[in-house]
Amino acid sequence: MNIKATIVSENCVFNLPGAIAEHGLSIFLETAAGNYLLDTGQGKAIINNALVLGLDLRTINGIIISHHHFDHTGGLVPVLDLSGSVDIYAHPDFFKESYSVRGNTVRYIGVPYPRRLLETKGATFKFSDEFRQIEPEMWLTGEVPRRTAYELGDEKLVVKSGEGYVKDDLLDDQSVVIETEKGLFIILGCCHSGIINTLSYIVEKMGKNHIHAVIGGTHLGPVSDEQREKSIAALKTFDIERLGVSHCTGLKTAARLAGEFGDRFFFCNVGTVVEA
Ligand SMILES: [Fe+2]
Ligand SMILES: [Fe+2]
Repeated sequence: MNIKATIVSENCVFNLPGAIAEHGLSIFLETAAGNYLLDTGQGKAIINNALVLGLDLRTINGIIISHHHFDHTGGLVPVLDLSGSVDIYAHPDFFKESYSVRGNTVRYIGVPYPRRLLETKGATFKFSDEFRQIEPEMWLTGEVPRRTAYELGDEKLVVKSGEGYVKDDLLDDQSVVIETEKGLFIILGCCHSGIINTLSYIVEKMGKNHIHAVIGGTHLGPVSDEQREKSIAALKTFDIERLGVSHCTGLKTAARLAGEFGDRFFFCNVGTVVEA
């Protein structure tokens, strides 16, 4: 099926008058099976940017949430205020309380709304941790098996355990897969599962290895140099036609990927449209 993906919320915006940037991610997906929204950003940009981009949030069939962090779920209330009743596809851990630790500062980074508020505003939660098909040619990965030895997650992202905190393994992190005539079209949220774990799992589950496009957050920014190099080396072994990075990739890593992928590389910022 054909897909048109438009970045609505992202960390950067270039040359798009009226649009605003925020630390977050939201991607509007237009397909023959209907419109979907992957993530909602922090909530400050989505309504404004959808208007600027001419995207009608009232038309969405569903909201897919890549993972529970506030920079992907903060826009749920403003979106629900426009969409009314809508299905929300997420992992059962969606409402877990998680935190980031920076020095002595511990900050709540989970969904910034209680479940009842979202349901009152029209959300119907469709929770699953499985690889699942939600439209004829559209799948969600659900939980991604952690198979590489080097994609280690982030020690600064934690959940409470007894009196202290332990690393949040972020098993709720998932990505979207659309099968197009040109190959697989993969949309990442933050990719806390690891981009190599994620792409390997998708190739295995789909039984296809030609990837037309990978777009979204790669989480290759906030990792060790060693991990980044291993991930980039492994990424180059995949059959990827286009790589469009966003959000938690970071400029330094994006520049590095631009060098490695050449013409296949592009930035996905507010207003970028990717079609297949
Ligand atoms: Fe995240
Ligand atoms: Fe994020």
